[in-house]
Amino acid sequence: MRIPMIAGNWKMNTTVGEAVTLVRSMLSGLEKMNGVDRVVCPPFISLAAVKDLLKGSSVKLGAQNIFYEEKGAYTGEISPLMLAELCEYVIIGHSERRQYFGETGDMIDKKIKAALNVELKPILCIGEKLEENEQGKTQEVLTHQLTASSDRGYYVGGLVIAYEPVWAIGTGRSASGSEANETIGFIRQLVSHQHGSDIADNVRILYGGSVTAENIAEFIRQPEIDGALVGGASLKAEDFLSITKQTAEIRGLS
Ligand code: 13P
Repeated sequence: MRIPMIAGNWKMNTTVGEAVTLVRSMLSGLEKMNGVDRVVCPPFISLAAVKDLLKGSSVKLGAQNIFYEEKGAYTGEISPLMLAELCEYVIIGHSERRQYFGETGDMIDKKIKAALNVELKPILCIGEKLEENEQGKTQEVLTHQLTASSDRGYYVGGLVIAYEPVWAIGTGRSASGSEANETIGFIRQLVSHQHGSDIADNVRILYGGSVTAENIAEFIRQPEIDGALVGGASLKAEDFLSITKQTAEIRGLS
C-alpha cells in the first residue's frame, strides 16, 4: 500500500525567523496525523533551524533544489552532502527551476542521481505548460520528461513523482480531480511500461498546482493520487493542517 504524502513547498518565502514560527505553529497538529507522510520544504537557509525544531518528530524535512557536484568551485550552490546532513527529501526539476533557471532534463537526471547517492529521496516534478495542454501534447511532454529521468534504481531509492501542470501552479486554477487522476494514471502506466508493475504500483505520485484546504478532498478521493505537493497553502498553518487532516481522514488512516 502506498502511504499518502503531503509536502509543502514553501518556495522563496519566509525568513529564518518566519520559518521557525510557521513550523512551531503547525508542529503539534502535524504530529497527530500519523499514516500520512508530512514533509516541509523551507528555503535552504532555514533548513538547519527547522531540523532542530523537528528533532524527535515524525514530520520530515525536504529541500527545494540541489546541485549535482559533491563539492568545489560552484559559487552559491548547495551540494548533496550538505543536504544529506539535514534532509530526507529534495524537490528536483520543479517547473520554476526549468523555466527561470534553465534546468534541462540532463541536469535534472544528474541531480536525481546525486541525491540518491547520498540517500536523499527525490521528489521529481513533471508537468505540461498551458499551450502544450491546449495542443493535446500532455502525454507526449510527460513521457519525454519522465524518460529523461528514468532508471529502475531511482524508484528503488524512494523517488516520488509530483505531477504539476504548469498552468495550475500559483494560478488558482487547479486541474479537476478526475483530470489529475487520469493523467497520474497515465504516468503510472508509463512507469509500468518502463520498469514493471511492481515498481509502478509502489511509486507515489502526487498532484500539485493550486491545492487548497477547499479542494484537497477532490484529489485525495481519486485512486491514482497519492497526495499533494502544496505551494501557497503550505505557508498557512491552518490550511496545511487541514489539507493533511483531510488526507488522513479520507484514506482512513486517522
Ligand atoms: P501552488 O500550490 O502555489 O499553486 O504551487 C504548487 C507548486 O508549485 C508546488 O510545488
